[in-house]
Amino acid sequence: MIHLSETVISNSLSDTAKIGQQIGQALKPGTLIGLVGTLGAGKTNLTQSIGRGLGIADGNVVSPTFTICVPHRGRLLMLHLDAYRINQPEEVDELGLDEQLEDGAVVIVEWSDRIATYLRPLDLKIQLTAPSETTRSLAFTSQSAKGDAVVTAVSAAS
Ligand SMILES: Nc1ncnc2c1ncn2[C@@H]1O[C@H](COP(=O)(O)OP(=O)(O)OP(=O)(O)O)[C@@H](O)[C@H]1O
Ligand SMILES: [Mg+2]
Repeated sequence: MIHLSETVISNSLSDTAKIGQQIGQALKPGTLIGLVGTLGAGKTNLTQSIGRGLGIADGNVVSPTFTICVPHRGRLLMLHLDAYRINQPEEVDELGLDEQLEDGAVVIVEWSDRIATYLRPLDLKIQLTAPSETTRSLAFTSQSAKGDAVVTAVSAAS
């Protein structure tokens, strides 16, 4: 089955904020998103805006580098993971992510490529790159109907 892909360019922090909020508003229960990109590419920044789109209070979504998984309650429960400093990927198994997804949570994983074998297949991968200091490229690759819903919303708005 063929799913959607789309690349969106952000020229500013406010562009990224808009894109993130569109994602947050379009998210369906049980969606697993992987964010891939180098240090400073904007994974945490985008997650903050996704959180805003889900109605999570500003300032609550911070880089979870030292805590492996942080839950936030908005329209849906959002679990924010950062795989960068996970030393033992088996720790991911203990989080029960599949069950949380089945219960309707949304899971967003920074550096998801580092723990790919410990995650079920992603609904959506977002690859972030920084063509310049202030611009970001966001390449969306959907792998499911839930991922398609996000890509459709972002494409319609761009
Ligand atoms: N258009 C833009 N969109 C998003 N962030 C931008 C943009 N332009 C500049 N930035 C800056 O890029 C940085 C992104 O940092 P952020 O912590 O989100 O990256 P990260 O990918 O999570 O890094 P890490 O791998 O360390 O977790 C911020 O300092 C932000 O201000
Ligand atoms: Mg980060």
